[in-house]
Amino acid sequence: MTTILVTGSNRGIGLEFVRQYAADGCRMIACCRTPAKAEALKTVPGDVRIMELDVASRDSARQLAGVLKDEPIDILINNAGVFGPKAQGADDQDYGAILETLHVNSIGPLIVSQALKDNLRRGHDKKIAVLTSLMGAIGENGSGYLAYRASKAALNMIMHVVARDWARDGLLIGIYHPGWVQTDMGGAGASLTPQESVRGLRQRIAELSPERSGRFLDHHGKELAW
Ligand SMILES: NC(=O)c1ccc[n+]([C@@H]2O[C@H](COP(=O)([O-])OP(=O)(O)OC[C@H]3O[C@@H](n4cnc5c(N)ncnc54)[C@H](OP(=O)(O)O)[C@@H]3O)[C@@H](O)[C@H]2O)c1
Repeated sequence: MTTILVTGSNRGIGLEFVRQYAADGCRMIACCRTPAKAEALKTVPGDVRIMELDVASRDSARQLAGVLKDEPIDILINNAGVFGPKAQGADDQDYGAILETLHVNSIGPLIVSQALKDNLRRGHDKKIAVLTSLMGAIGENGSGYLAYRASKAALNMIMHVVARDWARDGLLIGIYHPGWVQTDMGGAGASLTPQESVRGLRQRIAELSPERSGRFLDHHGKELAW
């Protein structure tokens, strides 16, 4: 049975990952900041273990790793993310909010991947999926949303380096843009349902290979420019 850990799984795209993989019989470790309030997650049928994880906290990640001990994890999905402050233009000076966005979106996936690296090495698939955004692609850039764009550009670079460095450990890293998705972050007017996006992302994760590791793809598998 495949064991899959998802971060930020109490709502949005993360919740949909848990629903779809659990329906297929996977053993899910569904992580979120506040398990007591994860009402939708509690109703997901299947083998779903809800565990506490704040991805921005090294202590929280270490605590989770301590509870899991040497349990193998086949696939880690670094999904948790924030959009950051509303005002994010070149003249805004809310540096604290920019740093917080970078902390959660850019450093968080590294903290979690490092804390669970030994579990992943013991797993069968040895795969890490990271939810990034086309808004982090400098070649596709528009204006505004400075903190979010910068955090995803930094995430792309960090995970590209991780893919190179951890290839020697047999670990594979998929860097994925999920499309524009109807969640709290994407809004109701987004073009994709979470079901559609996650169906595509699961295909990308299934076909992740040493040749595809460290590449930036959308949910259809289209290669994106950095
Ligand atoms: N929706 C889109 O159109 C879109 C497009 C491109 C990329 N993405 C990316 O896809 C991922 C999922 O987005 P979404 O649309 O599902 O967003 P969402 O609906 O806003 O959900 C975000 C999730 O991340 C969790 N989270 C935030 N900070 C966290 C932290 N420090 N520790 C643990 N969990 C944390 C939230 O938990 P709480 O409930 O505790 O806040 C929530 O479960 C994000 O990385 C996002 O940047 C989304």
